[in-house]
Amino acid sequence: MSHSAAKIAPAKGKLGILIPGMGAVATTFMAGVEMVRKGQSNPVGSLTQLATIRLGKRTDGRSPMIKDFVPLAGLKDLVFGGWDIYEDNAYQAATNASVLKSEDLGKVKKFLGGIQPMKAVFDQNYVKRINGPNVKTGANKMELAEQLMADIAGFKKKNNCDRLVMIWCGSTETFKKPGAVHANLAAFEKALHKNSAEIAPSQVYAYAALKSGVPFANGAPNLTHDIPALLDMARDHNLPVCGKDFKTGQTFMKTLLAPGLKSRMLGVSGWFSTNILGNRDGEVLDDPGSFKTKEETKLSVLDSILQPELYPDLYKDLFHAVRINYYPPRGDEKEGWDNIDIFGWLGYPMQIKIDFLCRDSILAAPIVLDLVLFLDLAHRAGMRGIQEWLSFYFKAPMTAPGLYPEHDIFIQLMKLKNRLRHLMGEDLITHLGLEYYD
Ligand SMILES: NC(=O)c1ccc[n+]([C@@H]2O[C@H](COP(=O)([O-])OP(=O)(O)OC[C@H]3O[C@@H](n4cnc5c(N)ncnc54)[C@H](O)[C@@H]3O)[C@@H](O)[C@H]2O)c1
Repeated sequence: MSHSAAKIAPAKGKLGILIPGMGAVATTFMAGVEMVRKGQSNPVGSLTQLATIRLGKRTDGRSPMIKDFVPLAGLKDLVFGGWDIYEDNAYQAATNASVLKSEDLGKVKKFLGGIQPMKAVFDQNYVKRINGPNVKTGANKMELAEQLMADIAGFKKKNNCDRLVMIWCGSTETFKKPGAVHANLAAFEKALHKNSAEIAPSQVYAYAALKSGVPFANGAPNLTHDIPALLDMARDHNLPVCGKDFKTGQTFMKTLLAPGLKSRMLGVSGWFSTNILGNRDGEVLDDPGSFKTKEETKLSVLDSILQPELYPDLYKDLFHAVRINYYPPRGDEKEGWDNIDIFGWLGYPMQIKIDFLCRDSILAAPIVLDLVLFLDLAHRAGMRGIQEWLSFYFKAPMTAPGLYPEHDIFIQLMKLKNRLRHLMGEDLITHLGLEYYD
């Protein structure tokens, strides 16, 4: 074992995964982990479970599985809990979400049926299109945060967990910019006591997690912990955090294609993306406030990959539009169309059309798995604050203030793997490769 590897605390005992929002993504994730544990399926789409990592020179022949290279929690040690505004247990919620076939859900019915959501912290001003009965009451948001902390401690004790991780899989909240109440912890806590309307439910969960010593990830585009008050708190409590908005579907495609077009110095004059989807997420995003939050993360991707400020002739006039249309007949089986107007040598125009018949939650579930395992690893390794190496999984990767996010998925993957090599005291791979020709 290398010097730095020796400093990582072992993954002993149970790891509790706490999820605000037990909807399509969360239940598809839980069901899948259980099916994999029972040997009924494969964890397709999960880097932690399937990918290898090359170490040393190409001629060394060392390519262990990532899960054998870094000390991750094993799937058998995961236990699940969560909160939702609906009272349905995870089996009922998964049945309603209808991502997985009933024959698959039947295989894990007992397991999912045993996961009952705790009462949520909810405010309909933040998610207009839904409302449910399973909601906490309290004099102010600080009291609600304390109730969440009691839930967290109770879950940990009851399930005999060694460690916990929290990941927001709740609905997309309405668009908010950071304000004075988010600027530092004292102002934030004061605002919790005063029940300020500026504090979103997701921020109450993030606060409760960090206060309880639990790493936090955000799978939705909401502001949540991307504010100085909570980021300072994460650093001060030595907790790793990451976000925002799982990179699946259309944005995943964008981050595959755009770097390729740019690498060949091909121009892009327009990128029109439209989607139809009919799940609850689609219904929530039908509200302009929630859509605005999503639109911001979806639009920022192309600009930062294509760098129009460096390549004005190729990308300055790019017209980029993103639409999401709620269309119930499709359920979770979204269809996303992209029309890309590109130009090449001498400015001659060409077009690319993509029609992606994707399943959102099928793409998101393995991302949830990887994130909770990596965050737990980061926590045991003493890594704190924003984990930029997990940008790979997000549409709007969080970064240190003033730093632009890296959206190119291939750079993100290199960053992730190099972070693991660095953690384990292995040489970083630069792809220079001169040594093979000396
Ligand atoms: N591929 C993907 O599916 C994907 C990709 C990126 C981001 N996301 C985001 O992940 C989130 C979950 O997606 P989904 O398809 O599972 O949606 P969903 O609507 O099926 O599930 C969200 C759940 O959150 C619950 N909820 C809302 N506010 C809550 C609160 N304050 N506390 C507790 N529960 C709350 C809702 O009742 C619902 O059951 C959404 O914000 C979505 O935008 C999903």
